[in-house]
Amino acid sequence: MCGIVGYIGDRDCVPIIIEGLKRLEYRGYDSAGIAVLSDGTKEVIKTKGKVSELEAEVAKQGLAGKMGIGHTRWATHGVPNQLNAHPHFNQEKTLFLIHNGIIENYSELKNKLIKKGYSFYSETDSEVVVNLIDRYIKKGRDLAAAVKYALNKIDGTYGLAVMYENEPDKIVVARKGSPLVLGIGEGEYYIASDVNALIAYTQHVVYLNDDEIAEITKDSFTVRTITDEEIQHEILKVEMTEDEITKSGYPHFMLKEIMEQPLSIENSMRGRFITDEGIVKLGGLIGYEDRIARSKRIILSACGTSWHAALVGEYMLEEFTGIPVEVEYASEFRYRNPIVGEDDTVFFISQSGETADTLAAMREAKRKGALALGICNVVGSSIARESEAGVYIHAGPEIGVASTKAFTSQLVVLSLITILIARKRNMDFEIGVELIENLKALPQKVEEILKLNDEIEKIAEHYVNSNNFLYLGRGYNFPVALEGALKLKEISYIHAEGYPAAEMKHGPIALIDENMPTVFIAPKDAVYDKILSNIEEVKARKGKIIAIAHVDDTRIDELVDHVIKIPECHYLFQPILNVIPLQILAYHIAVKKGLNVDQPRNLAKSVTVE
Ligand code: M6R
Repeated sequence: MCGIVGYIGDRDCVPIIIEGLKRLEYRGYDSAGIAVLSDGTKEVIKTKGKVSELEAEVAKQGLAGKMGIGHTRWATHGVPNQLNAHPHFNQEKTLFLIHNGIIENYSELKNKLIKKGYSFYSETDSEVVVNLIDRYIKKGRDLAAAVKYALNKIDGTYGLAVMYENEPDKIVVARKGSPLVLGIGEGEYYIASDVNALIAYTQHVVYLNDDEIAEITKDSFTVRTITDEEIQHEILKVEMTEDEITKSGYPHFMLKEIMEQPLSIENSMRGRFITDEGIVKLGGLIGYEDRIARSKRIILSACGTSWHAALVGEYMLEEFTGIPVEVEYASEFRYRNPIVGEDDTVFFISQSGETADTLAAMREAKRKGALALGICNVVGSSIARESEAGVYIHAGPEIGVASTKAFTSQLVVLSLITILIARKRNMDFEIGVELIENLKALPQKVEEILKLNDEIEKIAEHYVNSNNFLYLGRGYNFPVALEGALKLKEISYIHAEGYPAAEMKHGPIALIDENMPTVFIAPKDAVYDKILSNIEEVKARKGKIIAIAHVDDTRIDELVDHVIKIPECHYLFQPILNVIPLQILAYHIAVKKGLNVDQPRNLAKSVTVE
């Protein structure tokens, strides 16, 4: 986590860095800092709290300069405070460093440095790196060489940038396991953890790979590997507009992203159907379809919301392709020496494409010979680049920490993969056409659901003071129950649990009383009558009930306290519709509690640490 930004050129770097940090705040927001080194200015300012605190302090001190680096932090080692905030510096304050990642052997390195006479002011692992670089400089290396030698001593992950007073025209950056992108301007360069921070200035970028170090002056950059091999990088053009990364009049990114879903869902399927033939084409999987269709097993691996999407994917793929499917938490998969090999296809699902556990799990699957494929949103992200092939979900930038539109687009892409592979195996042409027609109708149905925003807001008012929530669903809608509970808990801090509805009787029913709201996902599907019985059981125990039901369902009206009626679609895609009212409900409860829904406490958008 953490966001890093840097600038070198002829303009004042301070507003560029502050603006960039604001755009990266989704990566961490407990403290922030900036260092400027240019034309006689040498200044570091750090503040606890959000980037706006730093902005105010920087304005108060009138900081300006043509080269600088900045950081917004998500604490791993050391509490969020001013001392632990980055940039970190050496004792003489000649060397300044920002770091995103974790130095696993920091404690051992720190002890060695202390024995050599170094002292430390912070509790962070990152401060070790700046002192290690300092040590190599004192041994006579230049900045780039000192960074290289220091990194050779480090176990862990980093996206980092360093400036040195005695080489005042240069920033050295390096990457391993944490993303780093260079923005190419005219006579100026930008550095950032992701393109959001620099898209206002340039669309031309270079994504550094792991184990690469770049030396950047205002006129040029060179990239070498940590083993000193020179690398020529292609300069890529990023297709992203500024509007996509601003709130565009919405009070929160989360609400904007919920409301964008008709378009994001449309974009996830755009150009991917051959409707007449009932087939799907996914450019990123061309050449791999037969191998996937022949797999003995498909594994879907992910974390958080993406893991919930994987669970829906399991239901879809197994039912329609007939291939056994397993879903794995990436964090478990990577550490349990999984039995996986050439007969397996493993899809790694990640909005950011940077989740450390998912990336590591993917490397493990590749090492073992499985076909490792990515399903990502962020173009050029680590998982997208390191997977053998894959599919972009094209949801557009998702900035709110709570994932919303990425989830529905992940479900769309999993549906497309299901049709693609099932048609290669045993799915009829007619079913292919029927599913495609159903998918095409989704954006319009999502529009209908979004019109319920005010109605759902009124329902939210009843539950602002609830301490617990239960979410229940069956079959394809069990993962939706999990996702609804996660949305509520991460932004409203209300304890919420998702369960398969039938499991309620095996324990959670003990929790039901008049203070315990239960959300039932109750479309008219094969298990509708069973869900109604579960609703009766909760009602008999005086539990409050909110139901998500089909628009023509009248039976449910008398049984529940609140019902949100949504359009019907093929049961395979119903999770895509059912989750949207749950996103809206969580959003309004959190807003009514006065919470910052875009930046909930303790969380960050991409979890790039283990
Ligand atoms: O970027 P990823 O999809 O790999 O992220 C996985 C989780 O960290 C993420 O879904 C997280 O659970 C969200 N906060 C959920 O809203």
